[in-house]
Amino acid sequence: MVERASEVAVVTDGEPPLAGRANWSRDVERVLVSAEAIQERVRALGQRIDEHYADKDLLLIAVLKGSVLFLADLMRAISIPHEIDFLATSSYGASTSSSGIVRIMKDLNEPIEGRHVLLVEDIIDSGHTLAYLTQLFSARNPASLEVVTLLDKPSRREVDIDVLWTGFSVPDEFVIGYGLDFNQRYRNLPYIGVLKPEVYQPADGA
Ligand code: IMP
Ligand code: MG
Repeated sequence: MVERASEVAVVTDGEPPLAGRANWSRDVERVLVSAEAIQERVRALGQRIDEHYADKDLLLIAVLKGSVLFLADLMRAISIPHEIDFLATSSYGASTSSSGIVRIMKDLNEPIEGRHVLLVEDIIDSGHTLAYLTQLFSARNPASLEVVTLLDKPSRREVDIDVLWTGFSVPDEFVIGYGLDFNQRYRNLPYIGVLKPEVYQPADGA
C-alpha cells in the first residue's frame, strides 16, 4: 500500500526523491555544468544585477518555458525590488535546431514603456529568438533593454546580438536540464547535461 504524505510540508535532511529523474539520467551522456556550479554562477549574476540596477525600476522578463528554473533562482539571488513577467515563443518541437522563424505564443501581461527590462533566457543558439525579441521590445520604448542568458553556444550564432551577462559558454552540443528540454522532457534535471545522440537520432539512420 502506498503511504500518503501529509499535506503539510515537512523539512527533511534526506536525498530528494529521484523517481523519474533516475530514469532520465540514463539518457545523459555527460554532465556539462554541475548543479553546484550553476548555483554559484547564478549568485554571482544576481550580485552584478543588483549593482547595475540599484535604484532602478527593474522588470525581469523570462522566456517560457526553458528559463523558468533560471529565473526562479536568479530572482532569489537579486536583492533589489523587481517584478517579473513572462512571454512564450514557439518551440523547436521534437527537433534540435531552430527554424529561424519565431512566433509569439504568449505576450507580456504588462506594458514595458519606461521600464528597465532584463530579458532572462535559457540559451542562445542561432540568436534568432533573441534578435526578434529585442527588436519587438525595443519598439515598446523601455528605459533600457538588456539580456542575461544562462548558456551561450557562440559557435552556432547566425545573427549578432548584444548580451550583457552570460552564465556559461557551451560547445555545439544539444544540452538539457535545469529548465532546458528535448521534446518537453529533462527540464527537472538539476544540472546541464549533454543528451545521448541516440535519444534524438534514429539508430538505423532512417
Ligand atoms: P535560437 O533562436 O536558435 O537562439 O534558439 C533559442 C532557443 O532554442 C532557446 O531559448 C532554447 O529554448 C532552444 N535551444 C537552443 N539550443 C538548445 C539546446 O541545446 N537544448 C535545449 N534547447 C535549446
Ligand atoms: Mg527558450
